[in-house]
Amino acid sequence: MRRMLLPVFIMLFVVACPSTFGQPQGFNYDEAKVPDFELPSLLTSASGKKIASAADWNNIRRPEILKLFQEHVFGRLPDREVQLSVEERSRQTVHDGLTLRRELRIFFTEDRNGPAMDMLVYTPAAAKSAVPCFLGLNFHGNHSVDPDPAIAITKSWVRNDSKRGNVNNRATEASRGKSASRWAARMIVKKGYGLATIYYGDIDPDFHDEFKNGIHAITEPDREGDRASDAGGSISAWSWGLSRALDILIVDRFVDGERVAVFGHSRLGKTSLWAGANDPRFRMVISNNSGCGGAALSRRRFGETVKRINTSFPHWFCLKHREYNDNEDAMPVDHHMLMALIAPRAVYVASAVGDQWADPRGEMLSLYHAGPVFELLGRKGLPSNQLPELDNPVHADVGYHIRTGKHDVTDFDWAQYLKFADLHLK
Ligand code: GCU
Repeated sequence: MRRMLLPVFIMLFVVACPSTFGQPQGFNYDEAKVPDFELPSLLTSASGKKIASAADWNNIRRPEILKLFQEHVFGRLPDREVQLSVEERSRQTVHDGLTLRRELRIFFTEDRNGPAMDMLVYTPAAAKSAVPCFLGLNFHGNHSVDPDPAIAITKSWVRNDSKRGNVNNRATEASRGKSASRWAARMIVKKGYGLATIYYGDIDPDFHDEFKNGIHAITEPDREGDRASDAGGSISAWSWGLSRALDILIVDRFVDGERVAVFGHSRLGKTSLWAGANDPRFRMVISNNSGCGGAALSRRRFGETVKRINTSFPHWFCLKHREYNDNEDAMPVDHHMLMALIAPRAVYVASAVGDQWADPRGEMLSLYHAGPVFELLGRKGLPSNQLPELDNPVHADVGYHIRTGKHDVTDFDWAQYLKFADLHLK
């Protein structure tokens, strides 16, 4: 009888707390304990002027807010002009004739041994003209996105991982196709879209080395002493890489560079939002489970906090961001302003109910609170500040869903992004 009690207790606990089970402990997951806070005003300029027209937004307030995010959150993007060049390394019809797969190496300088990033590009094999395209960074190398045996295994630094067979910080055959469930490549191509992806470690390996490796070798080669408090962290480096990828997609004849949606999951969702905020050429921006430092409102302190993220990932944000550890109310911005920087372009925020660490309600609320800027620019924001039913997306000028399941990218997520893209990119 006793022996039965423990499993029953565990089962009851899981049923009672389905959403927090398995999340890092010692953080707030209780809505009743979210502190009162006031969000910084979107539509009042630093000098106190009321922003009441699109022109004032574009000329005054938007540049102010972009600068605040550069100074206080992510740091500046590298400002170094680079001469990109591209080498096509493979071209083949795959997916039973459905898809044209290309691998492009994008060099940042003339040095063929210098930093470069490899972009895997899928487009419909039957396409008669350039197609709209999703562009996103991946976590584990282009070879992890599809079981295709011909995709080159990344030679960049990867995190050691016995499940993926990554040893000595190098990827092996064992990780081929291991992330395919997150990329829905066939579904995307069948719907007439392209998919372009790059391993984020090609741009900046995701560990703290004081910003020497990856693109930093070329964007700040002669730096001595400490970095400025607003020098960009890795999220800024990855965002810069996405814009350089877009430079290439714009001249690529298979992709319509004016209809590119930038997509990212988790830390790479923080990155897609920041890339979209900086680069208005991205027509649509998708944040998948981006959480703290991405879509979520920092002031809610629900799940992951500013202090925790700056401590676990000291290289993601700028140095100044650390001043807001346990001090969120002093930040001159919150993340509804990041959404507003993307307006009037189409933004999609997706949450998962099992991902309370990322604060689903806070992700939705930042999109909701950006509404006045969408409206000023002739678009509609989210209709309600309440979470919609599970698996019931809201698709309009902006999009949101919260789905069943955990922190991940699923076919359900992609099916929504495709429907939303049909509204905004077709
Ligand atoms: C950690 C981190 C998150 C991040 C996630 C990821 O969980 O705390 O902020 O989004 O990693 O990128 O996978």
